[in-house]
Amino acid sequence: MKITVLGTGGGARAHIARLAGLGHEVHVGTRDPQATLARTEPDMMGTVPFKEFLAEHPGIELHTFGDAAAASDGLVINGIDGHNAVAALSAIADELAGKTLIDYAVSYIYNPDVEHPWPTPWGIMPKLEPVDTDSLGEQIQRALPGVKVVKAFVTQEQSTVVNPKTIGGGDHTMFIAGDHADAKQQTTELLKSYGWSDILDLGPLVCARGMEMYAHMHSAIGFGLGQQFGGHFGIKVVR
Ligand SMILES: NC(=O)c1ccc[n+]([C@@H]2O[C@H](COP(=O)([O-])OP(=O)(O)OC[C@H]3O[C@@H](n4cnc5c(N)ncnc54)[C@H](OP(=O)(O)O)[C@@H]3O)[C@@H](O)[C@H]2O)c1
Repeated sequence: MKITVLGTGGGARAHIARLAGLGHEVHVGTRDPQATLARTEPDMMGTVPFKEFLAEHPGIELHTFGDAAAASDGLVINGIDGHNAVAALSAIADELAGKTLIDYAVSYIYNPDVEHPWPTPWGIMPKLEPVDTDSLGEQIQRALPGVKVVKAFVTQEQSTVVNPKTIGGGDHTMFIAGDHADAKQQTTELLKSYGWSDILDLGPLVCARGMEMYAHMHSAIGFGLGQQFGGHFGIKVVR
């Protein structure tokens, strides 16, 4: 398939590399391809410049967000920074129309000015916004009614999402939610190709609220395991 990954961050790269390894034609979206290729410094997470990643993954095509979305034949993964995702995706609504958009972003506000900060090994815990009565997944679906949004992948590091068998032989749970049955089926098939066997459909997209709010618990479990920068673990719904 021609699959598009919107984003050049660490999570997006996990999908790009795995999809290419599975034989898909992968198109990657960024704000400004020339600017992205000109970067020479690692980002705040220590992720190496995208040009270095591309050198190790020949055949990957880098485009603007819009051109990358247009190149997909039906499946697009959203790895745009959550706080900026609605605006960036709204600008390419026409190129995304009719397609399945799997959203794993978290709408974090970094370095928040809050009354009771949560110090972490890497700074103050970001604030989630929206929360409780809305979610990023729902915001994206409302902004792009012609797109089939599925919230998935968000409760794990993307390196684990694309290779679940590296944890407990793959015996852990992946969650999906969305309002379009065919898009959830497409997402399930992709997850099975990644190696997932326990995929729990939580139901409508409103369940993205719970999936996104789990982000803090994911960080807390990582700290408890002594894994400060991203966690290499899974969670299992035992039933
Ligand atoms: N990494 C993981 O394992 C993981 C796990 C669960 C959830 N998440 C969430 O998923 C999202 C993506 O994570 P990630 O690690 O793949 O990448 P990231 O570093 O959080 O985001 C990088 C992407 O966001 C784009 N971006 C940043 N500011 C922007 C703006 N103002 N307008 C438009 N685009 C903008 C960047 O565009 P350029 O390409 O132009 O620089 C880049 O493609 C985040 O919300 C993250 O919290 C990540």
